[in-house]
Amino acid sequence: MERFRVIVLCTFLLISDLKISAISDTLAPGQSIKDGESVVSADGSFALGLFSPGSSSNRYLGIWYNKITPGTVVWVANREQPLVNRLGVLNVTGQGVLVLFNSTNYAVWSSNVSRTAQNPVVQLLDSGNLAVKDGNDSNPDNFLWQSFDYPSETLLPGMKWGKNLVTGLDRYISPWKSADDPARGDFTFRLDPRGYNQMLLMRGLTILYRTGIWNGFRWGGVPETTSNTVYGEQFVSTATESYYTFDLLNSSVPSRLVINPSGIPQRLTWITQTNLWGSYSVVQIDQCDTYSLCGVNGICSNSNEAVCSCLESFIPRTPESWNKQEWSGGCVRRTQLGCKDGDGFLQLTSVKLPDMTDSWVNTSMSLVECRNMCLSNCSCVAYGNSDIRRGEIGCYLWFDDLRDTKHLPLGGQDLYIRMAASELSSYEKKSSSKRKRRRIIIGTLISAVVLLVLGFMLYMRRRRKTRQAYTSSIRIDNLKDESGREDDTELPAFDFTTIKNATDYFSYNNKLGEGGFGPVYKGTLTDGQEIAVKRLSKNSGQGLKEFKNEVILIAKLQHRNLVKLLGCCIEGDERMLIYEYMPNRSLDNFIFDKKSRNLLDWQTHMNIIGGIARGLLYLHQDSRLRIIHRDLKASNVLLDNSMNPKISDFGMARIFGGDQIEANTSRIVGTYGYISPEYAVDGLFSIKSDVFSFGVLVLEIVSGKKNRGFYHPDHNHNLLGHAWKLWNEGRPVELMNITIDDSSSLSEILRHIQVGLLCVQQRPDDRPSMSTVVVMLSSEISLPQPKQPGFYTERNFPEPETSSSSIRSASRNDVSFTMFEPR
Ligand SMILES: *[C@@H]1O[C@H](CO)[C@@H](O)[C@H](O)[C@H]1NC(C)=O
Ligand SMILES: *[C@@H]1O[C@H](CO)[C@@H](O)[C@H](O)[C@H]1NC(C)=O
Ligand SMILES: *[C@@H]1O[C@H](CO)[C@@H](O)[C@H](O)[C@H]1NC(C)=O
Ligand SMILES: *[C@@H]1O[C@H](CO)[C@@H](O)[C@H](O)[C@H]1NC(C)=O
Ligand SMILES: *[C@@H]1O[C@H](CO)[C@@H](O)[C@H](O)[C@H]1NC(C)=O
Ligand SMILES: *[C@@H]1O[C@H](CO)[C@@H](O)[C@H](O)[C@H]1NC(C)=O
Ligand SMILES: *[C@@H]1O[C@H](CO)[C@@H](O)[C@H](O)[C@H]1NC(C)=O
Repeated sequence: MERFRVIVLCTFLLISDLKISAISDTLAPGQSIKDGESVVSADGSFALGLFSPGSSSNRYLGIWYNKITPGTVVWVANREQPLVNRLGVLNVTGQGVLVLFNSTNYAVWSSNVSRTAQNPVVQLLDSGNLAVKDGNDSNPDNFLWQSFDYPSETLLPGMKWGKNLVTGLDRYISPWKSADDPARGDFTFRLDPRGYNQMLLMRGLTILYRTGIWNGFRWGGVPETTSNTVYGEQFVSTATESYYTFDLLNSSVPSRLVINPSGIPQRLTWITQTNLWGSYSVVQIDQCDTYSLCGVNGICSNSNEAVCSCLESFIPRTPESWNKQEWSGGCVRRTQLGCKDGDGFLQLTSVKLPDMTDSWVNTSMSLVECRNMCLSNCSCVAYGNSDIRRGEIGCYLWFDDLRDTKHLPLGGQDLYIRMAASELSSYEKKSSSKRKRRRIIIGTLISAVVLLVLGFMLYMRRRRKTRQAYTSSIRIDNLKDESGREDDTELPAFDFTTIKNATDYFSYNNKLGEGGFGPVYKGTLTDGQEIAVKRLSKNSGQGLKEFKNEVILIAKLQHRNLVKLLGCCIEGDERMLIYEYMPNRSLDNFIFDKKSRNLLDWQTHMNIIGGIARGLLYLHQDSRLRIIHRDLKASNVLLDNSMNPKISDFGMARIFGGDQIEANTSRIVGTYGYISPEYAVDGLFSIKSDVFSFGVLVLEIVSGKKNRGFYHPDHNHNLLGHAWKLWNEGRPVELMNITIDDSSSLSEILRHIQVGLLCVQQRPDDRPSMSTVVVMLSSEISLPQPKQPGFYTERNFPEPETSSSSIRSASRNDVSFTMFEPR
């Protein structure tokens, strides 16, 4: 989870007009504050007062960051009962109760004090907690009342998110209804009401997403983070309390967890350089995070061709609907369990453990005891470890069906699935033949070393690894499997002669195209496998070691909507990247060609847009690399046999030596027509520059027209300007150039146009993040109105200097360029 970067969303949290006169950090009984006055915490971090959200004129009592502009509200008292004028007043009674009165002296909100105090004092603490306490007692457990017990949509450092099991106080977050209205929205993000140590995102009683059970280090469904320098987190579970909390590692870097009006939870961190809230996010929103997407006994995977598959030894309940990608029916056992007659367990590694609907926990049992316990109860279907901190201690047992299991390559846990003896023996066979094959390969390797055919060896190992990519995550219980230890530093290297032969000496006839980083050739290996070879232009400016490191990292990025990098080839100063070959070539061949275009129905167009969005989301949020593509365009989206889109050329910016998350760069990579204004003009890139390119692509796909070179007889805007014009004139339908049979598609198309326009807005912080885009495209949540796009006329696009600074001249419109020192 923890994705970081620079986004700013949440204009809804922002308020204006906070010119307020500060009093002090405390209010004594009998004191009051009027509209226009505020209480400021001792160190000046937070302020309490009355404000108006967004474009609303209603007044609310709230707490906001006092040092951050624009104003960012973190807590609202009278969420459901706004004041309609500026005559409200907050009084403190003699008992220390806070009461908010409207102008006719009606109490619209009050704090609640269960005990009385000798000397009650109301104090706004530096943590942003508004506390009613007795004198100078600073122990939060003794507070008479505190705003931290009643969170709004924000979780601040030090807040307890969860339940007091004695009093029943349940602290959860729920979003604002909209940017203008802090009333509770439809969603809640809360401790599992069923009593498990996980958080659930819910809409009413429906579970939308679960974080997975806390595994001692983090939420079990959240990928491992390697370098979180912003906060430390913990989950506390005692007889009296169950809660999550986090602390800042550096208190001068504000960070908070919020849920936005669309129900998307995010961790935001303040970035001083840009004056923006960047998303350093908590919750991965990808397709597999949709609760129980694959039905019972299914498993969801982002890196597999098919999103859903059945768990080992299970088969689809109704194969026909399963094949139509309707997975909700789930899976059933292929072979009934024999109960005590020799059932065994298959170990599935790297998963988000199933939901705990019908399960049992013992935190002190060993894994062996756990296994025996499961085996001895005929209705136990699986077991696993409850706490990975303490090695193999702690036991979960599952009864009945397994739901919401997800393949989680980074930081997943092991699940032991019970199956009938006959099923197990078929896996043993597979596994032993795998071992035999391994022995043969090892033999080959040894002779290869003897013959010093190093390249060949690496290539074979790479092939084997690719073939076993998914099956290798399955192991038989208690069977030591050496292949579990994959060599992380292994370079998937191809030998130069192999590539030369495969491409027929880089023959012109095999040339597929010329990208920004060099030509691409089609090749055929001796075993018939087709590959695409990208021969990098020679100025990558990277040393050999750095290059290898980058390739290894990038080869680890695997997603259904990314072209698979099979390896690389290095010979002298030649550097090549080897990819899987995509027979349907690139998207531009379809969308900009009248004939091919008609072959695609709207559904296919929509799948393509959705796939690109998910691929990009994966790049932006992958917990290790967080890649900004920087050159997303139609010709960089390839299509497989089933017209699934696959993004290519990702990670090139890293290979060419620029791996900062967000930076001001003197080296710009991109393509005219797709590049965002802040990037082209200021050299400032962020994931929002990719969002801009994505928006251009969406509008191109819907309209069938290229942004660059777009011509309209009535005006001299480009495609973005044209779309914006049509939108404002209330006739966006005229943009679309897709034949549809039914009117239900029409609203979908309009939604796509609107999302496209939102993505190309001038200001980066107005553009949604890709996680929001994915939700916007796939649900019916209401969308904000787009503001003016960036670069909507050709004229205000800066032309590149073709002289000295340009190292690659753009000969065609959509050829990528790299240029130094844009200013
Ligand atoms: C609130 O406090 C102010 C100032 O102490 C006082 O004048 C006013 O009457 C109080 N309002 C109510 C409704 O108690
Ligand atoms: C104060 O609140 C009461 C109860 O909601 C309402 O009847 C009254 O009109 C409000 N006064 C103002 C000025 O809004
Ligand atoms: C105050 O507390 C009582 C009992 O604890 C509860 O019934 C009531 O709803 C609370 N009121 C508010 C405004 O929270
Ligand atoms: C706390 O307040 C009491 C009186 O209210 C005073 O005697 C005591 O010294 C105070 N303690 C501190 C640490 O200020
Ligand atoms: C904390 O963050 C501030 C601002 O980014 C930085 O100046 C300071 O060096 C950091 N302190 C530590 C201890 O890392
Ligand atoms: C949990 O397991 C331990 C060790 O096997 C055992 O001593 C203990 O009684 C178990 N607790 C429960 C509640 O079953
Ligand atoms: C098996 O486990 C279930 C669920 O905990 C329990 O209800 C049942 O009694 C157990 N059966 C046996 C034979 O222990």
